Amino acid sequence: MMPESPTPAGTDDALLSPPPGCPAHAFGPQGVRRLYGPDADDLRSLYEELREEHGPVAPVLLPDDVPMWVVLGHAENLQLVRSPTQFSRDSRIWTPLREGRVKPDHPLMPHIAWQPICSHSEGDELLRLRGAVNGALSTIEFRALRRHINRFSQMLVNRFCEEGEADLVSQFADHLPMAVMCEILGMPEEYGDRIVHAARDMLKGTETAIASNQYIVDALGRLATRRRAHPEDDFASHLITHPAGLSDEEVREHLRVVLIAAYEATANLLANVLRMVLTDSRFRNRLNGGQLTVPEAVEQSLWDEPPFSTVFAYFAKQETELGGHRIRRGDGLLFAPAPGNVDPKVRPNLRAGMKGNRAHLAFGGGPHECPGQDIGRAIADVGVDALLLRLPDVELACEEDELRWSESISSRHLLELPVYFEPREPQDVLQKPALNAVPQQRASWDLSTSEADATQTPSRPTAPTELLQAPQSPARPDGVWRRLVRWWRGY
Ligand code: HEM
Repeated sequence: MMPESPTPAGTDDALLSPPPGCPAHAFGPQGVRRLYGPDADDLRSLYEELREEHGPVAPVLLPDDVPMWVVLGHAENLQLVRSPTQFSRDSRIWTPLREGRVKPDHPLMPHIAWQPICSHSEGDELLRLRGAVNGALSTIEFRALRRHINRFSQMLVNRFCEEGEADLVSQFADHLPMAVMCEILGMPEEYGDRIVHAARDMLKGTETAIASNQYIVDALGRLATRRRAHPEDDFASHLITHPAGLSDEEVREHLRVVLIAAYEATANLLANVLRMVLTDSRFRNRLNGGQLTVPEAVEQSLWDEPPFSTVFAYFAKQETELGGHRIRRGDGLLFAPAPGNVDPKVRPNLRAGMKGNRAHLAFGGGPHECPGQDIGRAIADVGVDALLLRLPDVELACEEDELRWSESISSRHLLELPVYFEPREPQDVLQKPALNAVPQQRASWDLSTSEADATQTPSRPTAPTELLQAPQSPARPDGVWRRLVRWWRGY
């Protein structure tokens, strides 16, 4: 027999609550596990306990003890996102919301509240809105994109390269995606410390989060007004002029969802990949067969630490079954890449490298699959590559176990990544790092792509990839090898 839905929280439980510090805090009414509170500070372990107890789908409680399912199995997560006839992204059908059990000040309200955006739509409306987003994204020229990413990476490294030390989260990973997204959207002049701070502040949900959100909404509103009057060749203009005919509100909301979804996810990915290349022995010693290309490191990170741990949420349109559980009409389900990606059915050995395998859940799937995944990957690939080319001797400046994260149900964000390196001069941001003389030999553990290595200075340990070594003369910028490298890298 299939287990029942998680039972809604009662209102008179306060008197029955356990004293502070008691392990019973981990459980809400009827013994359902809480995904929040003092006993949910390690969600990875909690998901494994839930998998053990309930299998691939488990009942849990969100803040205020609002009932939810979390989908833990890889196959079940795919079934969830690929079954639009059974599951919808429209929160208005969610039973706890319809019954008024989700308070307006619920901490997840920014994710819960329905908006006129593709993420919350289905059917013809989804096709219309996704058509406009996909159409506008398809106008992005990837060679130019990679050039921008490289230029911004150079600019950021210039800000700290003379210091010999940096925090790669606040000085690199938090900035690069915002600089690139402001450029793509059509508002390069808005990029700066202020908008990065506003986005971070908003995502942290501090007491200034509402003002920070307003700052971003105002910047996007100005952009939409300008481009409605005078379209140019950028994402905002193509979104506005798309035949789908988006209203002003739809344009504003989609600019916001694209900026924030892209920013948060890509900043997390970049920080995670940088941490991985600095700390993971699988990537440190190319001579011991541990070499992986940057794109492979990115894919490994998307498996191990998906930038969105869970996505709120899918809702059952009818009574159905998932992972052996009976799901009632109006039940909510968290799509959960973090536990889904470590499902023992697809990864019996978590230490085994995934070698570029892209079957992870980090970008979702089905009709709502992330339309910006190639942009997210490009920012991580080019950004990490450019940083390692500029600072080949970069090393972590603390013990790995001293690194700290902030964790919420939806994501896990590395707080700091302190590093040190030999201080060096800033570089002309328009120069290509790969064609530049780099002062130091690259560390033996570097993991850049062999194409990138091929344009490096020659004083490195010999490795099989040396066979791909390029001619070194900078006086021949248009040689076949350079053209090939430039074609591959996109700049
Ligand atoms: C590493 C970077 C990124 C990751 C891990 C990521 C991940 C995701 C995930 C998990 C979803 C939800 C899928 C679902 O509901 O099934 C999503 C949706 C979305 N993403 Fe991304 N994303 C990234 C970068 C980007 C970028 C760069 C853009 C835009 C340029 C973007 C635009 C969007 C949009 C518009 C949606 C909503 C699509 C819909 O619901 O129809 N994302 N993303």
